[in-house]
Amino acid sequence: MTLDTKTQTSDGRSFLFVVGSSRADGNSELLARAAAEQLPAGVRQRWVDLNALELPDFRDGRHETDGAPATDAERDLREATEGATDIVLVSPLYWYTVSAQTKRYLDYWSGWLSAPGSEFKQRSAGGTLWGVTVMADADEVRADGLVTTLHHTAAYLRMHFGGVLLGNGSRPGQVLGDERALARAKTFFRQDAPLAVFPGAAA
Ligand SMILES: Cc1cc2nc3c(=O)[nH]c(=O)nc-3n(C[C@H](O)[C@H](O)[C@H](O)COP(=O)(O)O)c2cc1C
Repeated sequence: MTLDTKTQTSDGRSFLFVVGSSRADGNSELLARAAAEQLPAGVRQRWVDLNALELPDFRDGRHETDGAPATDAERDLREATEGATDIVLVSPLYWYTVSAQTKRYLDYWSGWLSAPGSEFKQRSAGGTLWGVTVMADADEVRADGLVTTLHHTAAYLRMHFGGVLLGNGSRPGQVLGDERALARAKTFFRQDAPLAVFPGAAA
């Protein structure tokens, strides 16, 4: 598994960045790395590139199998996910939502939720979900579908939601010219991450 770990003295927070672009060194990862640079020393960072994993499409065996990981890649990914206090989904905006790689990763969460012996459900509750996305369109409202997907996912899992850091760009590296996004990146992980609650539901 491609797991790039940068560990400093830990203060208990552990960020897992899950990159779901279809190309290496994409805009979404560049923006996420700009935000991650601002994390205090002492916060652990792990980066996983979903493209580098041999992760097949999720097969729904929740009601038929023992839920054991089907591949080494799935087991490593589950352990990395369970070991994080903060999960950052780093996905380009694809068709107004997350990329297929990112969606496939989320589909695996459904299997991990019900797998015997899995700590995923307990570990995710109380944790924090964040998003980083880059889009070609300048109108950020058009990323609402992605934002809602991540917010509701956090609400379902009783997680806090830190919001989505948005950037603009199409060609690789173009986001580095988006000064507004880079300015937001500087403070993104410092912002409040309230408990996510479905619209109309009691907190
Ligand atoms: C399959 C695909 C779907 C896309 N869909 C959208 C979209 O719905 N809205 C948008 O603004 N940009 C869309 N784009 C453009 C990407 O969001 C943009 O190129 C972004 O910079 C890619 O990020 P990356 O470099 O991290 O992969 C799409 C690109 C691809 C390849």
